[in-house]
Amino acid sequence: MAKKPVVLVTRKLPQAVHERLKRDYEPRLNLEDRLYSGEDLVRLAEGADALLPCPTDKLTAAVIEKLPASIKIISTFSVGYEHIDCAAAKARGVLVTNTPDVLTDATADITMLLLLGAARRAYEGERMVREATWSSWAPTGMLGTHVTGKRLGIFGMGRIGRAVAKRARGFEMQIHYSNRRRLPADQEHGAVFHETAEDMLPHCDFLSINCPASAETYHWLNAERIRLLPKGAIVVNTARGTIVDDEALIGALKSGHLAAAGLDVFENEPNINPNYRPLQNTFLLPHLGSATTDTRNGMGFRALDNLDAYFAGKTPPDRVA
Ligand code: DGY
Repeated sequence: MAKKPVVLVTRKLPQAVHERLKRDYEPRLNLEDRLYSGEDLVRLAEGADALLPCPTDKLTAAVIEKLPASIKIISTFSVGYEHIDCAAAKARGVLVTNTPDVLTDATADITMLLLLGAARRAYEGERMVREATWSSWAPTGMLGTHVTGKRLGIFGMGRIGRAVAKRARGFEMQIHYSNRRRLPADQEHGAVFHETAEDMLPHCDFLSINCPASAETYHWLNAERIRLLPKGAIVVNTARGTIVDDEALIGALKSGHLAAAGLDVFENEPNINPNYRPLQNTFLLPHLGSATTDTRNGMGFRALDNLDAYFAGKTPPDRVA
């Protein structure tokens, strides 16, 4: 019987994914779910044929250069792949794949949770109930921002941006979007395309960030762009923390220029900018966008589909580098 490929799996994955890994591969599992350093990755990858990492693994050029030559493919358990230096992988002839599609719905769902939670002051309300500081229903108490019928600007109209638009239409929101390319007419469903984000921002009662992290989108939402948003706008980010300049966002939340923010992702997770914590007008989640059992199974299976294709001598369906 042919030897099964050895796969270094850097984090503990759902049971169903482990079962498939054990059936088809010789997996090196991390059942304790310890966070590996770059040095750990290099050492543990010795003699392995593939890596199955997560966004928490920093596969920098320095780490990739030291990986054993036996590693031929990096199949990340994530749609985002900015944690992998693709140029370094390419230079070593290592393929990189990701897991698109399977987390679109879960991420769009949590975008709506954040949008509603930030608009309707869910964090403050939750605390009042739990901490017994809720004294009475009040005609003017805890007033939030109305969502139905408002304008939602989506920055990045890929799969997730489009799934957010679909959900927001259920709230009769008017969709505006900024994207590298205009969508074909049959995919716009009445959404208003803006050639530039700067053109779109003044039309956003809500702004949802749904673009990939890259050098071009680093700190894209800065003080200058925040000023283009109408006073009282609400910002939601389920993409990557690095797209937002935290100091600028915190400043606008404190000054009242922005009414609120709903954030699932942060720069330097989990060591987020501590100045978010005391802000009452934020609704904060610990990167839960794809955190449903169905979605995490789907991500694992998709990562394995890519490995299966590679080891069957085919081009993996989700090759990104
Ligand atoms: C991804 O897959 O990139 C997500 O951020 C994980 O939730």
